[in-house]
Amino acid sequence: MSLKNDLYLRAHRGDNLERYPVWLMRQAGRILPEYREVRSKMGGFKTLVETPEFASEVTIQPVDILDVDAAIIFSDILVVPEAMGLPYQMVEQRGPWFDKTIRTSEQLALLDTNIDVYDRLSYVFEAIKITKRELKDRVPLIGFAGAPWTILCYMVEGKGSKTFSESRKLLYTNPALAHELLNRISDVTIDYLKGQLEAGADALQLFDSWAGILGRDQYATFGLAYIRKIVQAFEGVPFTVFSKGAVASLEDIASLPCTALGLDWNMEVNLARRIVGESKTLQGNLDPCVLYGSNKLIENETIKMLKSFKSHRHIVNLGHGVYPDIDPEKVKVFIKTIKNYEL
Ligand code: CP3
Repeated sequence: MSLKNDLYLRAHRGDNLERYPVWLMRQAGRILPEYREVRSKMGGFKTLVETPEFASEVTIQPVDILDVDAAIIFSDILVVPEAMGLPYQMVEQRGPWFDKTIRTSEQLALLDTNIDVYDRLSYVFEAIKITKRELKDRVPLIGFAGAPWTILCYMVEGKGSKTFSESRKLLYTNPALAHELLNRISDVTIDYLKGQLEAGADALQLFDSWAGILGRDQYATFGLAYIRKIVQAFEGVPFTVFSKGAVASLEDIASLPCTALGLDWNMEVNLARRIVGESKTLQGNLDPCVLYGSNKLIENETIKMLKSFKSHRHIVNLGHGVYPDIDPEKVKVFIKTIKNYEL
């Protein structure tokens, strides 16, 4: 069956649009009281991720409540390291925690090989199947994974970090180990994203949240080389690469064979457009902090961004995930402003 609202997919293809599609990174979760209720019923984030019926329920909440033009499956990028043999915990108020880390070849040897994603990540595929059924073709469903470099960062540090200096240290002190780990992550990620498509995802996105901490050469070698390998496995699929903060690498990123690029709020849309050209859709890039402002400010800043777009090849989003303490009513003002802006 065809989708009732396929604006998001048409924007990937570069079709003419009657208005820009909009969705938010981290819309499934975080800001909605309805989400927090389901999470507390489940006893926490991780159980929610691993319980398909409820992961599906919180995936659909923003479609019902915020009226976004795409759903994104509720999960986390950290399910991939876990599938590789490095279990994570999500510590309330503090974020991810891994008991084991990978910094030496001995530690790398402890990771599992020949991973069957259909066995280890079946709960995600099941959540996608349920979500597709329950969405009833209202909007497309986005599947996702972390980009190999960002996943490596968590596997090496074992937690969040301001500098990820252990990960960057590894690139200098043991580049062979870094490449081996990146290769393994990439292979699992390809299988994982294929499984998401088979389960019903309509589009895919890679999140490279820590792209911006590498300089251009290192990002080409340890970041983009692996992203390219992944994207190449998905020809013809609407595919977004979001390399947060990688301003210096935009020219290299533009040469990836994907359909859309995510921009954060530090990137100037028209400069990005000049570098990227017309053959890709740009996604973003309002500063999430605009949503702390008055309704008038949100409208003005959103319209300023929309006016700066010179073509239809845009998907509206924030420059990064919506912050947890943003009032959902403010998100509605943002979304309504976009929906009322005719092209
Ligand atoms: O709505 C969506 O975008 C779908 C679900 C989604 C989550 N995480 C759920 C989540 C997605 C796409 C992610 C991606 C993710 N996870 C990234 C890349 C995007 C980014 O923000 O840069 C990263 C780096 C992670 C790892 C991660 N997960 C961290 C660092 C944290 C803790 C801090 C935080 O951001 O809240 C999480 C937890 C997490 N993942 C929550 C949600 C809804 C918050 C847990 C909760 O409050 O219930």
